[in-house]
Amino acid sequence: MSAAKWPEAHSQSKALYDRASQVMPGGITRILPWQEPFPVYAGSGSGAYVTDVDGTRRLDLLNNFASLIHGHAHPAIVAAIQEQVTKGTAFTLPTEPEVALAETICARAEGFEWIRFSNSGSEAVMCAIKAARAITGRSKIVKAEGVYHGSYDYAEVSLDSSPENWGDDPQSIGYSKGTPEGVKSDVVVIPFNDVDAAERIILANRDAIAAIIIDPAPSYFGFVPVSQAFVEMIRRVSTEIGAVFILDEVITFRVHSGGAQTRFNIKPDLTVLAKIIGGGFPVGAVAGSRKFMQVFDHREGKPLLPWSGTFTANPITMTAGKIALDLYTQAESDRMDVLGDRLRAGLTQAFSNADYPGQVTGFSSMFMVFGHQREVQDYRSGYSSKEEMKWVTAVDELVNADGLLERARCHYSFRAPKTF
Ligand SMILES: Cc1ncc(COP(=O)(O)O)c(C=O)c1O
Repeated sequence: MSAAKWPEAHSQSKALYDRASQVMPGGITRILPWQEPFPVYAGSGSGAYVTDVDGTRRLDLLNNFASLIHGHAHPAIVAAIQEQVTKGTAFTLPTEPEVALAETICARAEGFEWIRFSNSGSEAVMCAIKAARAITGRSKIVKAEGVYHGSYDYAEVSLDSSPENWGDDPQSIGYSKGTPEGVKSDVVVIPFNDVDAAERIILANRDAIAAIIIDPAPSYFGFVPVSQAFVEMIRRVSTEIGAVFILDEVITFRVHSGGAQTRFNIKPDLTVLAKIIGGGFPVGAVAGSRKFMQVFDHREGKPLLPWSGTFTANPITMTAGKIALDLYTQAESDRMDVLGDRLRAGLTQAFSNADYPGQVTGFSSMFMVFGHQREVQDYRSGYSSKEEMKWVTAVDELVNADGLLERARCHYSFRAPKTF
């Protein structure tokens, strides 16, 4: 093991980044974990800690973007996977672990009668939106400004609107260069938690809307929970105009053993799941009542939405997911809430001791650091200037000084793309 530590020029991470730069654009595969001047490379993980290739051990507050609810290499998951690997990793035929995970998830929330798996949350969002289009025969979707739902073009619209282009009512702004006009015109953007404005905008498009997709606590603006009034309006208006109400619980399923929908009494038509339900392996799913999930059923001829995928419901993911969920009881979710409260209180105290001009937001086991102190209620109130983003990157020096989070750099890179 080299004595040099990241980010020193002779560290193992630097050597790996030099190799990576020869064979990958920007030397990386995923943009979100990027950090200057080059990434720390993970060597191994155990529980809440990751040890990098230079031997430095850090507390991991991101856990592969909130997908590892029990941390790294949980012994029960490792043992079950080792056994399944020897039996086979992927089959054309369905398997028992697929049935078992489906039963486990369907038992978790009142509205889950049937479930269909996919390989990622993005794919599941796409699947739910296509399902809504097949059910309604309409093409437009409604989403809230600045909310991340993965990488399906329609779901990405308005993800990084800025004061230069966001207008009075939220505009349909393409996320990447070259987003087709057809994609933009098929997305209606509403302000999160603004009941009157959102209802007005939805009703102006009422006959064309296939789906309204809502995240009950969007990560990009600090996990602000959806208000009861907003979610009730979405439920009522979806029914009134004949659109499908999709709840994106890709991250928030962790806030209760039955997800945010159980904790906040939300009644969506379809729910998108991913992350923790795969126990550390790639996964996604759409769940809901038979009335809506019928769209996938092939038993009376070609289904309205045929759906497949080479690695969908592979027995490795299914086995890991079942154990992860069995271990994630309501008591465990409650314990995570307490840990989250402790972390947010500790950070708030550290910020105050240091006269730091920022704040920590979030609830349950989710938190976000902002480099400003404005009250965050939606994308616009959370929006940070480049200067404010610098405070977010600076925060790890502060918490290191307090010894609060050790060198928990992972979390702070979460917002890094906003500074690009
Ligand atoms: C709310 C939400 N929806 C969808 C996705 C996409 O999931 P995946 O990264 O598995 O494609 C994410 C990913 O972070 C997410 O946070």
